[in-house]
Amino acid sequence: MSRKRVAILISGRGSNMQALIEAAKASDFPAEIVGVLSNRAAAPGLATAASQGIATASLAQSKFPSRDMFEDIMTQTLESWDVDIVCLAGFMRILGEDFVNHWAGRMINIHPSLLPLYRGLHTHERALADDAKVHGCTVHFVTPGLDEGAAILQAEVPVLPGDTPDTLSARVLIEEHRIYPEALRMLASGEIAPL
Ligand code: GRF
Repeated sequence: MSRKRVAILISGRGSNMQALIEAAKASDFPAEIVGVLSNRAAAPGLATAASQGIATASLAQSKFPSRDMFEDIMTQTLESWDVDIVCLAGFMRILGEDFVNHWAGRMINIHPSLLPLYRGLHTHERALADDAKVHGCTVHFVTPGLDEGAAILQAEVPVLPGDTPDTLSARVLIEEHRIYPEALRMLASGEIAPL
């Protein structure tokens, strides 16, 4: 079996990144994590990845004259790792159309809501403000529209009385760590076709 080569893009903690790294340790997992790229040098996930012998890169958009140039260098970095699939895992930058189209069908994201509900930020706060009874997360293909690409997997969690954004996000995060590796497995194995 030839394993797909995967890069993970992060901006922070990297708990979803770690879930993907753990899943890829299984010899029958159809993908390997070959690199982690962050747009923030201080992202704790970078050190976590480096400590496990994974190649890392840090690229700050502010150091580039334009977003296009920043994203060109991101693509060059990913291609230097010979990447087949890109996983966004808490990457807090909206990506431009050229970058997204370059990786179309090969780039997926984890979003902390049951899309199409609550695209964008502060999903847990917004679900609580709406008095939602159910919340959750979605792994989806990345397309130029924010959080608009086709869903691959979703998981629901109940919203419980007394929930705060923190308690609710912790419950959702458990499901994120479960469905993200499963969605990557489905894409890398060819079980679902790229877009
Ligand atoms: C997760 O909630 C993910 O759904 C969202 O950003 C958060 C990243 O957390 N896109 P982590 O860095 O994976 O711990």
